[in-house]
Amino acid sequence: MPDQIDVLLYGLGAIGSFYAFILSRSHHVRLTVVARSNYEAVNANYLPHSNKPVVRSPSEASTVDYVVCAHKAIDQEDVAVQLKPVVDQSRTTIVIIQNGVGATQISPGIVKHTKSEDMQIGLFPNRQVEGVTDQRRLDTFAGLLRNGETRFQILEDIQKKRWEKVVWNVAWNSITALTMVDTQTWLHSSDYAEPFTRELMLEVIHIARGCGVALNNELPDQFIGKIKAMPGIGSSMQTDCKNGRPMEIDVILGFPVRKSRELGIKAPYLESLYVILRAIDGRLRTAL
Ligand SMILES: NC(=O)c1ccc[n+]([C@@H]2O[C@H](COP(=O)([O-])OP(=O)(O)OC[C@H]3O[C@@H](n4cnc5c(N)ncnc54)[C@H](OP(=O)(O)O)[C@@H]3O)[C@@H](O)[C@H]2O)c1
Repeated sequence: MPDQIDVLLYGLGAIGSFYAFILSRSHHVRLTVVARSNYEAVNANYLPHSNKPVVRSPSEASTVDYVVCAHKAIDQEDVAVQLKPVVDQSRTTIVIIQNGVGATQISPGIVKHTKSEDMQIGLFPNRQVEGVTDQRRLDTFAGLLRNGETRFQILEDIQKKRWEKVVWNVAWNSITALTMVDTQTWLHSSDYAEPFTRELMLEVIHIARGCGVALNNELPDQFIGKIKAMPGIGSSMQTDCKNGRPMEIDVILGFPVRKSRELGIKAPYLESLYVILRAIDGRLRTAL
């Protein structure tokens, strides 16, 4: 591993703060964090105990070896533009960490972590980079996580895991956001609720298969069994909607909808939910 590895952490919310902490435990890492709304609080409370630079925007930083994206997955096209100043195409790897470890930002710059962490990581193959380079970059980043003493596993086929998560998120995020009820209340709301959920999940499974990712047809049984065994839960999309914030509908629903159109796979349940959520998201954004 190189002696010094430059890392920019983009999106210093709950997840970003958690992994900033993990990465800062490695003496190889020279860390810069991008804080927006919590910049003042982070500067006041975090900088005195540390020499990690905090900036308001990537334009204040130089190119890095790794950009760790832990921001809310909204307005992704703007994010790509924002990140341009820190990306050197021959050097920079983008690491996307937008999944849960049971952490919440309880006040600006203060994050409460309640559950044990776990992460599955893998490669999104880049045809412009040799496989061996991709693998070395993954191994180096895994070394940093190991130094940070967090739990993680490297998966050969992360795309399968990713699409499984899309199936889960499409169902529970969109349904709980649209109905404003928890998962148990939804499943008991009528005899149509469970079959509706299964059909929705199956549509996403077919789209995943169209993209070359072999999800199996038993996934709805597994996911419905899993959710039934849990107390009723809401979702981050439901919370965003309740709080009048933009929702992560594009990455969760918009992406599979676009793929279904490209591949000519019919997905009427998915597309209906997406179209309605787009209108709600538009209303939330207008009111900001
Ligand atoms: N927390 C969990 O355990 C959990 C569970 C499941 C999934 N996730 C996923 O993990 C990701 C991060 O979640 P989180 O809980 O850390 O959220 P969070 O605490 O709300 O923090 C989000 C961070 O992203 C920044 N941000 C929002 N929109 C941005 C944009 N368009 N460009 C740049 N930065 C932006 C926010 O900055 P401002 O404050 O300035 O807006 C904030 O620093 C999300 O995709 C979420 O769905 C988290």
